[in-house]
Amino acid sequence: MGSLKALCNVSLLQLFIVLCLVFQCFATRRHADLRTTLVVDASDATGRPIPETLFGIFFEEINHAGAGGLWAELVSNRGFEAGGPNTPSNIDPWTIIGNESSIIVETDRTSCFDRNKVALRLEVLCDSEGDNICPNEGVGVYNPGFWGMNIEQGKKYKVIFYVRSTESLNLTVSLIGTNGVGNLASSTITGTAADFSSWTKVETLLVAKATDHNSRLQLTTNTKGVIWLDQVSAMPQDTYKGHGFRTELFEMLSALKPKFIRFPGGCFVEGEWLRNAFRWKATVGPWEERPGHFGDVWMYWTDDGLGYFEFLQLAEDLGAIPIWVFNNGVSHNDEVDTSAVLPLVQEALDGIEFARGDPTSKWGSLRAAMGHPEPFDLRYVAVGNEDCGKPKYRGNYLKFYHAIRTAYPDIQIISNCDGSSRALDHPADMYDYHVYTNANDMFSRANTFDRTSRNGPKAFVSEYAVTGKDAGTGSLLAALAEAGFLIGLEKNSDVIEMVSYAPLFVNANDRRWIPDAIVFDSYQMYGTPSYWVQKLFVESSGATFLPSTLNTTSSNQLIASAISWKDSTENKNYIRIKVVNFGRGTETIDISIDGFPVGQQFGCTKTVLTSDNVMDENSFAQPTKVVPQTSSAVNVESKIQAILSPFSVTSFDFLIL
Ligand code: AHR
Repeated sequence: MGSLKALCNVSLLQLFIVLCLVFQCFATRRHADLRTTLVVDASDATGRPIPETLFGIFFEEINHAGAGGLWAELVSNRGFEAGGPNTPSNIDPWTIIGNESSIIVETDRTSCFDRNKVALRLEVLCDSEGDNICPNEGVGVYNPGFWGMNIEQGKKYKVIFYVRSTESLNLTVSLIGTNGVGNLASSTITGTAADFSSWTKVETLLVAKATDHNSRLQLTTNTKGVIWLDQVSAMPQDTYKGHGFRTELFEMLSALKPKFIRFPGGCFVEGEWLRNAFRWKATVGPWEERPGHFGDVWMYWTDDGLGYFEFLQLAEDLGAIPIWVFNNGVSHNDEVDTSAVLPLVQEALDGIEFARGDPTSKWGSLRAAMGHPEPFDLRYVAVGNEDCGKPKYRGNYLKFYHAIRTAYPDIQIISNCDGSSRALDHPADMYDYHVYTNANDMFSRANTFDRTSRNGPKAFVSEYAVTGKDAGTGSLLAALAEAGFLIGLEKNSDVIEMVSYAPLFVNANDRRWIPDAIVFDSYQMYGTPSYWVQKLFVESSGATFLPSTLNTTSSNQLIASAISWKDSTENKNYIRIKVVNFGRGTETIDISIDGFPVGQQFGCTKTVLTSDNVMDENSFAQPTKVVPQTSSAVNVESKIQAILSPFSVTSFDFLIL
């Protein structure tokens, strides 16, 4: 019995030891399994160049991105044409100052400009003396701009307008504060009836005495007679390089270091109807002579101050290659038959000549007259937007393709037809790929191009964004899914040439499409989390893609990539590793960079985009709620352990010392 007890004791002891060993082993195994590792191969032999052009921007005239946005013109509907050439009655948002006993305001077609004949006729019934005395503030009209003009103390505003008068002129031009209260600047234009008996251009420089973000431009008089006004413009004098771009918005674009800019749309290029499509010839030449047009997809008028020339100038100022999207005879609702499309083909050829033709050529000379004798660097054109399925697209496309290829063999031609899953049935240098979807689907699309043929035209992912309830008006969740997608594009950048988010801008007063990358109003702006994700990729264009292996059994969805890149201004070399944790758990990751000698030291900067709640957004009240946070460490080795926050994207920059 005693020996049995002893045996039993031994057995229990042994069993305990065995169990301990098994448990320890199991624990170790479990621990090892849970460890997420990322091994980056940084040896010279394995890197692959990423296209120089990979990351850029897509500018569409949508959400008042240009008119009332990047284009700094303060006056909306400066030519009183907003109803269109055949309905010269819509002066919105111009507003009458005075009543029917003091002034009669109407439009007529007496303008001195042939392409925009509508002018504003003011019949002033009151006077400074006599029976019908004008109100103290005078009578006339005001323009509130695009939901209020931002006028800032000390800044200069050039007001230009065209005027004609039956009597001597005494017209006061003023910048007035919110609700018509407070005079911020004014100047009075006077002259005899003879001075103004025919259309006369007036220019005056106003210097603001105070700041008001919701101001208006006012033209008033208290002199009886008839006055005609046309082409009234008010331009801040501090635009980027004087080129007309609102400086802070320009700088937000510039910070993305875009390698290309696709413009001017989007659906804006197509129109609901062809008569409302963007036609480049109507947008060039002196601004006063441009007819403007109603964009019937996004449902607003644009004076086309931001025209084809200005888009090319914008590209040049950003150091980005212009990619011109033109209408190919297809709108949302009507199409030009292929047998009749040649005039549009010629229009496209003329547009290319305008951009890069010799200053002595017909259209190149217009560009030169507009102040740019050197050619613009137009190397890419896109034939239409999202038109692949339309009946006339293929026929029309081929007409454009062959004509452009013959006249400009170096120009890269982009088709609307998606070649990501099967070969195109027509020649093209690139094909357009657009995706708007929910967050999970976007994240999973990181693998889309893994399966794409490595031969044939490359992809231009010219529009992508998470939309719908996952995105709200710009959530962290949307941005993280996009970050995962972009990592997938980076990995497949052997078959992807260019990538851009859409839409780029939204004026918060006219949200035609949400979400967007940059939100603004008359004076403030912020980037959505999607904007900040794009910033994490700005060094990838032209960098070297490094193979990496991510091993994980985590319940978090993870994706990672690595590049090596050079900061040429500082002559420093970096390895950048980006990891998206698309899950609700914290993740520990062991990162090692192979290809460096033992003991190699790095400086390390860690940049994290995350927030307490995955649906968090930025706003005017909290513009930096979801923005990247950066921390640095010195003398880091090639193996590090890092913690990835739940729902985050983290970028590690290893400075090679
Ligand atoms: O980016 C907004 C719109 O989405 C674009 O105009 C169009 O190309 C797409 O359908």
